[in-house]
Amino acid sequence: MKPSVISLFSGCGGLDLGFLQAGFDVVFANDIDKEACETYTKNIGNHIVCKDIYTLDSSEVPNADVLIGGFPCLGFTIANGKNRNLDSSYNKLYLEYARILKAKQPKYFLVENVAGIQSGKGFREHFYEKILPSFESCGYRVKHKILNASDYFVPQNRKRVIIIGVRNDIPNDIDFPTPQSKTPKTLKDAIGNLPLDYDSAIPNHIGSNHKIKINGYIGNRALDWDKPSPTITGRGSRGGGAVIHPHPNLHRRLSVRECARLQSFPDNFIFYGSNGANYAHIGNAVPPLMSFYIAQEFMKAFYNPIESAKSMKIHKKNRAKLNL
Ligand SMILES: C[S@@+](CC[C@H](N)C(=O)[O-])C[C@H]1O[C@@H](n2cnc3c(N)ncnc32)[C@H](O)[C@@H]1O
Repeated sequence: MKPSVISLFSGCGGLDLGFLQAGFDVVFANDIDKEACETYTKNIGNHIVCKDIYTLDSSEVPNADVLIGGFPCLGFTIANGKNRNLDSSYNKLYLEYARILKAKQPKYFLVENVAGIQSGKGFREHFYEKILPSFESCGYRVKHKILNASDYFVPQNRKRVIIIGVRNDIPNDIDFPTPQSKTPKTLKDAIGNLPLDYDSAIPNHIGSNHKIKINGYIGNRALDWDKPSPTITGRGSRGGGAVIHPHPNLHRRLSVRECARLQSFPDNFIFYGSNGANYAHIGNAVPPLMSFYIAQEFMKAFYNPIESAKSMKIHKKNRAKLNL
């Protein structure tokens, strides 16, 4: 039997997809955003419950081996510049994650968040004195590390904090994945073969008509075909709109599909709802390729060499399809 996973703040399912591909069975997911839940349901499964986590009773959540999730980062993210706000109501959502962790007592848990969650005056203290202890007090040994998605074949510089927790009575540990890609994948690798014009015949290869203006600010910088993309962000998913980088040839902004590729979503993963929502969901997601390598480390705790080898074979095929 496959080890089971419950997922919180699941969004469109980037993190969950990596765990599925590594051989886990995701048995429950939750998000408040209707369009994200639609995309999740149609691509991953109908085990997602669309509701506010504050109204989610732990009795509605099944027991599982692993809990995964990345609570919203709007208050922590450096992309929010001077609007970064420790008092943001979003910054209390980690307590809801801890509430479910305490009630369900999975063997292991994983949290993903922006690197800014642990840096800067006030934020650092909040991370070490509030967030980490809230998980430790649920009965877990906790460690954390910043990983860059570009080390895991994702054609994007995207630094994220990964927190791993192991229940105190479990002797074995879980490692962070070691970097995999020797040279970083580039924009050309990932989107070079998509048509220059938006084309509705290619799923989600449409997007923003926002004009190109190169002025050095985030979202208004020229991109280099031969480098990984800068971070694809979902800033403002609940107001404000996502930052959509210009296409490297400055002809237009990146399409939804191009953003999806830069986040390593497979081409058969279709995004539903408005373009604006699609950009936000993609920018909010954990790149599935990076999630896969993290999930492989968790899988070692349930070691099944045949299943592991199988999922690695499929994973390599999926990467080849994406030219990554
Ligand atoms: C950073 S995103 C998670 C992305 C996801 N891990 C992925 O890989 O696709 C955070 C998610 O938290 C959800 N969220 C925000 N407030 C919530 C609430 N009160 N209850 C449930 N979900 C909430 C947002 O809709 C968003 O999808």
